[in-house]
Amino acid sequence: MSFPDSSWKVAWITGASSGIGRELASLLDTRAGKVVVSARSSEKLDKLAAGSQAIKPYPLDVTDETAVSACVDSIESDLGPIDLAVFCAGTWAIMDQGEIDIDAIRSGVEVNYMGVVNALAALVPRMRERGQGHVAIVASVAGYRGLPRATAYGPTKAALINLAETLKSELEPFGITVSVVNPGFVDTPMTSDNPFPMPGIMPADKAAQALLAGLEKRRFEIIFPRGFVYAVKLLRILPYRLFFWYVSRTMIDKKG
Ligand SMILES: NC(=O)c1ccc[n+]([C@@H]2O[C@H](COP(=O)([O-])OP(=O)(O)OC[C@H]3O[C@@H](n4cnc5c(N)ncnc54)[C@H](OP(=O)(O)O)[C@@H]3O)[C@@H](O)[C@H]2O)c1
Repeated sequence: MSFPDSSWKVAWITGASSGIGRELASLLDTRAGKVVVSARSSEKLDKLAAGSQAIKPYPLDVTDETAVSACVDSIESDLGPIDLAVFCAGTWAIMDQGEIDIDAIRSGVEVNYMGVVNALAALVPRMRERGQGHVAIVASVAGYRGLPRATAYGPTKAALINLAETLKSELEPFGITVSVVNPGFVDTPMTSDNPFPMPGIMPADKAAQALLAGLEKRRFEIIFPRGFVYAVKLLRILPYRLFFWYVSRTMIDKKG
C-alpha cells in the first residue's frame, strides 16, 4: 500500500497505547518525522516506542485539562510544532436497557468529549497562529443515531461529529484541516467483551491503514469498514417512524 503525501514532521496520537491508535502510531513510524504517543499506560507506550526512532511517549490523562495543556507545551518545545493530531482516546461501557448510570455517562463525557475539547483548546490556538495543521477527531457510527445500550457512549460520539462539523467550517479559513473518523466495528480491546454480534468487524491494523489513507487525502469524514458504515448511514436517514420500528424489532428486549 502506498500513501501519496506523508509530510508530517510531528504527529500526535492520543489513545495510542492500544487498538486503532496504537496501530496508527506503528504505521506512522516510518512516515512522519516524530510520532508522539499519549495514553495513561506509560509502560505500554514505552513498549511501543522501543526500537523506534520516531515514536516518543508522552503519557497523559486526557480528562486533565492542565496536564493536556502542559503536554502540548512539552511536545512542541521538545520536538517542534504538531502538524497532525489524531484524537483516539476513548471509553465504551455497555448499559442495561433503561439504565441511567450517571457515573458511566459522566466518564464517557469526560474522556470521549471533554478529552478532545481539552486537546483542541491547547492545540488550535497554536495551529491558528501558524496558519496550518490537521486535527482528526475519532467519533463513531454510534453517533449517527441514538441506539439501545449506548447511553454512555453514543451521545458523546454524536457530540464529536457535531463539533467536527462546526470546526471544519470555522477553522478552514485559518489553514487548519479538520477530519472526523467514524469507524464501524474494529477488533480492539474496546470491543473484545461485547456480547452482541458485530457485523463487518475489521482488524485494527486494517482500520489504521484506512484511517491513514483518509488522513493522507485530507478527507473530512473517514469511514471504515465502508460497507457496514454505509448501512448505518441508511439507518440515519430513515424517518423516525421506520427507525424506531426497526430498532424495536431488532435491538430491544420487550420484557425490559
Ligand atoms: N473498536 C471499535 O469498534 C470502535 C468503533 C468506533 C469508534 N471507536 C473509537 O476509536 C477510538 C479508539 O478505540 P479502540 O477501539 O482502539 O479502543 P482501545 O483499544 O480501548 O483504545 C482506547 C485508547 O484510549 C486510551 N484512553 C482511555 N481513557 C483515556 C484517558 N482518560 N486519557 C488518555 N487516554 C485514554 C486508552 O489508553 P489507556 O487506558 O492507557 O489510557 C487506549 O489507548 C475510541 O475513541 C473509540 O471510541 C472504536
